[in-house]
Amino acid sequence: MPPMSTTPTQTVVQPSPTKFNQVQPSLTKSDKTPPYAANPPSPPVPLGNPPGHYGRAVTTDHHFVDSVSFTIGGLFDPKKFTIDDPDVCKKGIATLLQALNNLRRAGAEGSPLLAVISTTGISKHSRDVPLAFLPFYHYGLSVPHADKKVMEERLLESAERWVAVRPSFLVDGGKPDRKIRVGVEDLNKGVEKKEVGYTISREDVGRWMYENLLAGENPQYSGKAVSITW
Ligand SMILES: NC(=O)c1ccc[n+]([C@@H]2O[C@H](COP(=O)([O-])OP(=O)(O)OC[C@H]3O[C@@H](n4cnc5c(N)ncnc54)[C@H](OP(=O)(O)O)[C@@H]3O)[C@@H](O)[C@H]2O)c1
Repeated sequence: MPPMSTTPTQTVVQPSPTKFNQVQPSLTKSDKTPPYAANPPSPPVPLGNPPGHYGRAVTTDHHFVDSVSFTIGGLFDPKKFTIDDPDVCKKGIATLLQALNNLRRAGAEGSPLLAVISTTGISKHSRDVPLAFLPFYHYGLSVPHADKKVMEERLLESAERWVAVRPSFLVDGGKPDRKIRVGVEDLNKGVEKKEVGYTISREDVGRWMYENLLAGENPQYSGKAVSITW
């Protein structure tokens, strides 16, 4: 097991200034970069296909970045009630985990925190969506939810540091003054803190992730699924 990353200030992850999905998945690293608030970070490095991009994105001089923001998800087609690629999350996370393993074997050091967007509605321990949403979540979103479940299982099986962020239904429009409620679940042991809500904006998910995961260590969420909602 590689040493844990302990230098969050050395990595600057591009937060979402306007729209959450604009920064996904993205990360940058600069050991010389001053604090984010004072100096905006350099542009994020996209982790898209082909998978070889991961290697260049998650390491600098044989050191892993401190954190990876992974927000890949399928494009939902409301007419067909499915997504364009039903396996996109499981393939994406497998590619990332494999890349980390390969890079470690090649000498890369460190253990980046994988901040991974999952979803509410897939807990096996508790209902974390409102009753009114259940039919839509159960029937309409069964395909993407099956994919997210496998993605979370892959994280659980891995030896990486990770947090699965489960946002409620996504809308647009940041509300910085609106309280974000946070539920916490240990995938094996069950719910530690329960919160149920309808929606949250992409901007506020990005802000929450930046403030609570990417800008510094928050051990209470490590290896857990964290539901966030207004
Ligand atoms: N919509 C909701 O209510 C909701 C609720 C809970 C969780 N989520 C999750 O939240 C995240 C953002 O959702 P969203 O509604 O904002 O959807 P979105 O705009 O479609 O975001 C999905 C992102 O995944 C990327 N992506 C898809 N396939 C990829 C691939 N093969 N390689 C690399 N990137 C790929 C897309 O990149 P491009 O832009 O380049 O295509 C897109 O930016 C997703 O993970 C989604 O599953 C959504």
